Amino acid sequence: MSQSTKPFDENLVCPVTGEALFLEAGELVTADGRHRYTVGEDIFELFVNPEAPSGEKSSDTTGRVQDFYTDAPFPNYNDFDDMAVFVERANKGVFARLLRKQIPMNTRLLEVGCGTGQMSNYLAATTMSHVYATDMTLASLKLGMDFARKNSIKGIKFIQMNLFNPCIKKRSMDLVISNGVLHHTADTRAAFLSIAQLVKPGGYIVVGLYNKIGRLRTDLRRHLFNLFGERILFLDPHLRKDLSPEKRRAWILDQYCHPQESKHTISETLGWFAEAGFTFVSSIPNIIGTFSAEEKLFEPKSPGTGFDRFLAEVGMLFSQYGSEGGLCIVIGRKT
Ligand SMILES: C[S@@+](CC[C@H](N)C(=O)[O-])C[C@H]1O[C@@H](n2cnc3c(N)ncnc32)[C@H](O)[C@@H]1O
Repeated sequence: MSQSTKPFDENLVCPVTGEALFLEAGELVTADGRHRYTVGEDIFELFVNPEAPSGEKSSDTTGRVQDFYTDAPFPNYNDFDDMAVFVERANKGVFARLLRKQIPMNTRLLEVGCGTGQMSNYLAATTMSHVYATDMTLASLKLGMDFARKNSIKGIKFIQMNLFNPCIKKRSMDLVISNGVLHHTADTRAAFLSIAQLVKPGGYIVVGLYNKIGRLRTDLRRHLFNLFGERILFLDPHLRKDLSPEKRRAWILDQYCHPQESKHTISETLGWFAEAGFTFVSSIPNIIGTFSAEEKLFEPKSPGTGFDRFLAEVGMLFSQYGSEGGLCIVIGRKT
């Protein structure tokens, strides 16, 4: 079977060599044919894990976390999620709604660790972006792909990728989003530096990480969970919402039984930003002042002093940020 002469997608590269990929008989291959990747049910399987070359279940962190999410894809869909309900629900989330409103047309957008692709599907459906939805867990990507197909969502590619071995061309993306992912790897800083290279100069990165202080309420509940089991889960505000049994299970496992998680401060994240050539733009919650529903995510704000950042983190404990897992989102721009 002959190989196309044009690369399949200018932004997709071989995760081993960084070379362009061509479509040949339903596979993506390098020009010399040495590296071949399956395209199964429209999902591009470009995952490589040098720590476990056999691809079998492994004891390394990436392998263990992958097994965990294969068993419980996160965040899962509610049974009743048709397109209208899905968009209506997503619009209620301030972060998703602000992104939808503020992402310019034709943005090349990469989501790293998209899970079941809810954010990617939402942004592909409601903006004119070209979305690359990537995750290492095939079971999660399949749910995202099924939803996209069922609802005829265009402008999105689902790709199985290890963020430590990206299959996205360096300096090619206008916007890279990675929410709730990097702290589930063996080395959050290295994970950040790996995906930061994919942002083009002048582009943006959005990273959501468990905050060292903001997550203390979850830490306490997790401790109680380990002592008393599921009966303490009435203390979790998220579980009081209208969730399908799958969604509920995925949340409980993700928040209380995860095999790998770390927590970070805003100041620590800003250190990685400096290392990778990014400047601080904004954060959720704000470092100074309260976060409004009309916040401009991509307009530069002051990073404040170390003490301002500490106070913002303490403030998380007394707001919905602290009650819902203590995730803090920081946005940077590549200089
Ligand atoms: C908590 S889920 C977050 C999903 C989604 N971003 C969200 O906010 O709902 C974490 C995701 O990170 C993915 N992940 C963890 N380590 C990864 C790696 N090394 N490469 C790619 N994805 C990874 C997992 O497969 C999982 O789907």
